[in-house]
Amino acid sequence: MQRIQFFRLACLAAAALPALAQAPAAVKAPQRSPFLISRPVPDQASIDRGKAIYVPTCGFCHGANATGAEGPDLVRSFVALRDEGGNEIGPVIKNGRPGMPAFPQLTDAQITDIAAFLRNRQQDAIDRNAYQIKDVNTGNIAKGKAYFAAHCATCHSPEKDLKGIGGKYENAVLLGKIVYPTGRGVTPAARRTVTVTVGTKVVTGRLEYLDDFEVGLKDSTGEYHGFQRGPTVKVDVKDPLAGHEKLMKAFNDADLHDVLAYLVTMK
Ligand code: HEC
Ligand code: HEC
Repeated sequence: MQRIQFFRLACLAAAALPALAQAPAAVKAPQRSPFLISRPVPDQASIDRGKAIYVPTCGFCHGANATGAEGPDLVRSFVALRDEGGNEIGPVIKNGRPGMPAFPQLTDAQITDIAAFLRNRQQDAIDRNAYQIKDVNTGNIAKGKAYFAAHCATCHSPEKDLKGIGGKYENAVLLGKIVYPTGRGVTPAARRTVTVTVGTKVVTGRLEYLDDFEVGLKDSTGEYHGFQRGPTVKVDVKDPLAGHEKLMKAFNDADLHDVLAYLVTMK
């Protein structure tokens, strides 16, 4: 028990190190970073459109708030930081990367919107830096508990699946998980499945690939099946996290921080 406790403390300390190293600069610096503040802040409509594309298309791998999951953190990526209206991220999006599919179907306007969303995330992260080092846990526990009972308890229980959740992740990570739990840590229960029906042939399995033209899945034996999409091919995707995605659109910042405050008590 004591050893586990020590291990956890050691991990927490290690996780806190980079933040501590940054702390003096963050305290001294004004609230806004000098190297980003000089750049134009994109307009809110573009940010919103970008978010609507980014979250379902890229959030799966880069995190819903762009701080990374299976794919790299795009808030701190140099490619994304250097980007001006899509000029740097555009080629990556259109051509893909090892481990990242290409998205040739995204238009330049959509890429500009994604760039606006990422740019805004970067500015947010920078503006909140000093604050985040203190804590993101600023919400109201009682309100969070009530919100949880109304919106989360149909799928979760503080005594069962979320037991100990407050000790499982750093607060900022947990905040991201509430919005959209994804990344390597996602259990099979959270993965999307798909059923493809072509005439009398019906194949079901784990969704591996999906765009307007193709769908790919792995069946229970691990075999890959790819299909061209078309009017005679029925594709039915089931996403266990659809509930989260819906909530994410309904969340406001205060709800989110209240729920976080409540989850943090589940140690
Ligand atoms: C299937 C997972 C996956 C999806 C979906 C995905 N990416 Fe990526 N992305 C990656 C991986 C993995 C890398 C790192 C590749 C490498 O090491 O070169 C990456 C790299 C990037 C980079 C370069 C980061 C850097 O600093 O080099 C950008 C920018 C990027 N992705 C943006 C996006 C955007 C925007 C979307 C949505 C339109 C997207 N990605 C969708 C997995 C993904
Ligand atoms: C419609 C069902 C549904 C609703 C409603 C829902 N969730 Fe989830 N949630 C899931 C599923 C499915 C997972 C993935 C579980 C897994 O990985 O096994 C998940 C995962 C999570 C995780 C990550 C757990 C972990 O161990 O990494 C957190 C945290 C979470 N949800 C919080 C919430 C909160 C807070 C609410 C309410 C604001 C909420 N969820 C509402 C279905 C739901």
